Amino acid sequence: MNPKMLISPLSDVETGLLAVFAADAAKDKDAKPQIQMLTQDDAALKAAQAVLESGEFKAEPNETLLLHGPAGLKAKRLLLVGLGRTEKATIHDLRKAAGTAVRTAKPRAIREIAIAVPVGGALDAKLTVRALTEGALVADFDPDTYRSDRKDRSVQALRVVAGAAFDRAAAEDGLREGAIVGEAQNFTRSLVNEPGNRLTPAILGQRAAEMCREFGLACEVHSTDKLRELKMGAFWSVAQGSEEPPALIVMKYEPEGAISGPVLGLVGKGITFDTGGISIKPADNMEKMKYDMAGGAAMIGAMRAIAQLQPRVRVIGIVCAAENMPSGRAQKPGDVQIAMPAGPDRPGKSIEVINTDAEGRLVLADGLTYAKQLGATHLIDAATLTGAVSVALGTINAGVFSNDDAAYAQFAEGLKISGERFWRLPVEDDYRELIRSQIADIKNTGGRYGGAITAAMFLKEFAEETPWVHLDIAGMAWLDEAKPWIAAGPSGVAMRSILEWVRRYEV
Ligand code: BES
Ligand code: MN
Ligand code: ZN
Repeated sequence: MNPKMLISPLSDVETGLLAVFAADAAKDKDAKPQIQMLTQDDAALKAAQAVLESGEFKAEPNETLLLHGPAGLKAKRLLLVGLGRTEKATIHDLRKAAGTAVRTAKPRAIREIAIAVPVGGALDAKLTVRALTEGALVADFDPDTYRSDRKDRSVQALRVVAGAAFDRAAAEDGLREGAIVGEAQNFTRSLVNEPGNRLTPAILGQRAAEMCREFGLACEVHSTDKLRELKMGAFWSVAQGSEEPPALIVMKYEPEGAISGPVLGLVGKGITFDTGGISIKPADNMEKMKYDMAGGAAMIGAMRAIAQLQPRVRVIGIVCAAENMPSGRAQKPGDVQIAMPAGPDRPGKSIEVINTDAEGRLVLADGLTYAKQLGATHLIDAATLTGAVSVALGTINAGVFSNDDAAYAQFAEGLKISGERFWRLPVEDDYRELIRSQIADIKNTGGRYGGAITAAMFLKEFAEETPWVHLDIAGMAWLDEAKPWIAAGPSGVAMRSILEWVRRYEV
């Protein structure tokens, strides 16, 4: 997409489509709309005047109106994009509105577009440009790589246009960050979009290693032997049923110069296909389980952005990749597995596997322990862990859980920038009882109620005292329907919020 900053009067911008935002300044929602164009450019204001007076455009969020050959502008088309009520518009509304502009241009094969930085608001200059760039990039992605009738209509040139009075340094910074973050999110989505036959655990490992090579991160991809050596009995119990060997992906980011302070451990669920194993899933919708590695992909995408943005904090990214299959070698309900030991004198916890379809928590248990062994002082994990989280929160919020209010507070601060929506659910000790086993230290399911919480309680046993944030993105990682600003399919959720969490620990 090649985004660039352009300092210029709007009327001089030569482009296929110039997007200008408009908001509704009406006092309350029942009052007649009072459309306010978020530009001071006379030509743009004039070009929009007639249609605004007609009342056809109400500036509702992501509402669009396309004008051809606008008089007084060099742009071929003028696109008005609504932002909703003036006082409510946030950075994230801008991100979506920029996306809406791109997704208006794409089907029309308009290859060059310009987006006008809105004027008159109180939003931070750098964040504004970052959000516009990010939103535009994310909107440019379509998951149609396997369609032979695919028409590549990606936007080839994006200009973000601001007037001469705009803080140019802030704008350039924002543009650079927005491009890095938007590309990392699309990278995450491209991984999530791959089907199980084309993205086995080993191939996911290769993709991570390629990314690390390209962006200067250390990376190791281990398999069965290393799982044995580390005594990762929980991770292996899932992997053992598949012909495809597991991959333990370890990515490391070290900032320049030796630094002290926290070491952040990012742990992702990388189930490249989840059949459920012997507790096999019904056929309906099983094809969706190719996206059961979305948490792992979010970590790989976050590491990519971290490598480019270079925050002053050490980060270790771990993805536990395996395929959950039924077979003659697969684990069975009732099997007892011994998780990775937490230290030389600390034998691994024994786990009674009630349901082989609760496999995500098994691979993550060993991933969390390993992250601590590698020195992580703070943990965050992301996983498409439970159907129950969508029962609780629908597809509007993902679930967040934490054993530490300070670590959670950092995550919540980051959400203000990422614009993603997460809702905190409890991991109080009273729930522990639900995963108590008669046979072993713990069992891997907790019965009918509070399924997202019991899954989180299971992970909490392995995070132990280390500050830990758990993200259950099962309801949010795949969009069944397109939105005006984003295609249907893999969303890339959590990557941006994990990145912002990491950046809050800079020393
Ligand atoms: N990968 C699934 C969770 C999932 C469901 C992700 C729907 C995305 C969409 C996970 O491994 C799983 O199967 N969880 C079980 C747990 C149960 C057996 C305790 C579930 O949610 O049904
Ligand atoms: Mn499962
Ligand atoms: Zn799963």
